[in-house]
Amino acid sequence: MEEPFEAGAIIPAAGSGRRMNAPTNKILLPLLGVSILERALDAFLNSEFVKILVLAVKPSEKRIFEAQTNRLAAAFNKEIALVNGGAERWESVANALEYLRRWTGWKRRKRLVAVHDAARPLLTRELLNQSLAAGLEYGAVGLGVPLKDTIKRVDDDGMVVDTPDRSSLRAIQTPQVFELDLLLDCYQRVKGSGINFTDDCGVVEYCGRPVKLILGSYENLKITTPEDLALAEAILRRRENADRSRL
Ligand code: CTP
Ligand code: MG
Repeated sequence: MEEPFEAGAIIPAAGSGRRMNAPTNKILLPLLGVSILERALDAFLNSEFVKILVLAVKPSEKRIFEAQTNRLAAAFNKEIALVNGGAERWESVANALEYLRRWTGWKRRKRLVAVHDAARPLLTRELLNQSLAAGLEYGAVGLGVPLKDTIKRVDDDGMVVDTPDRSSLRAIQTPQVFELDLLLDCYQRVKGSGINFTDDCGVVEYCGRPVKLILGSYENLKITTPEDLALAEAILRRRENADRSRL
């Protein structure tokens, strides 16, 4: 990564965690004592390339998040902004993107934006760096992992329609990294399309621009249902033990 560049991070955090069935936004739940959100922010707070983090949050939850982000901004000497989330994830990202478009703190011409779900607390610094490096090279990059399960398409009655060839399918993760201008342009163009984009690469694909996938990690879980909590804690415990044995 020799070319000078800087990056902004967009963290969509305005979901309601329906599938988790928790009383609060699931990203406030702790994993071994540290919130999912705080763990998801860790790689970005520690990255020298990331100059600003923009969190999209529900207006009703702004206060709760402000307390956390004020503390983290001071501890890591990083700028963290909060913007209002939208009804769908892509609307939350669009609001944060608008903030980055207007942000006056940019110093370099080469600007990347990394979009990362607040619900993915196991992202490592290595994987973030690989994503940024690929973003610089390709302009639009997502993480993908080969599917472990066979996938079937079904109809409304649960009858199997077909079985797509698994070898050409990938399960998609975040972070997804883009040239800032490219993502701004594509989000501008899909406004009013009526499509509910569930990831940001999808917005770029829709605009007909090439998107590169690099290998993600099976450990880079999205915390979605209650059993993901136990799985994530097991991975964190194993990482902590590995760190200890290195000392
Ligand atoms: N998200 C968001 N704005 C929305 C919906 C989701 O910022 N309108 C965020 C979530 O907070 C999460 C990420 O997008 O960090 C991925 O979404 P998902 O895992 O689906 O979280 P939720 O939407 O909260 O969960 P559920 O779909 O089960 O309600
Ligand atoms: Mg959701």
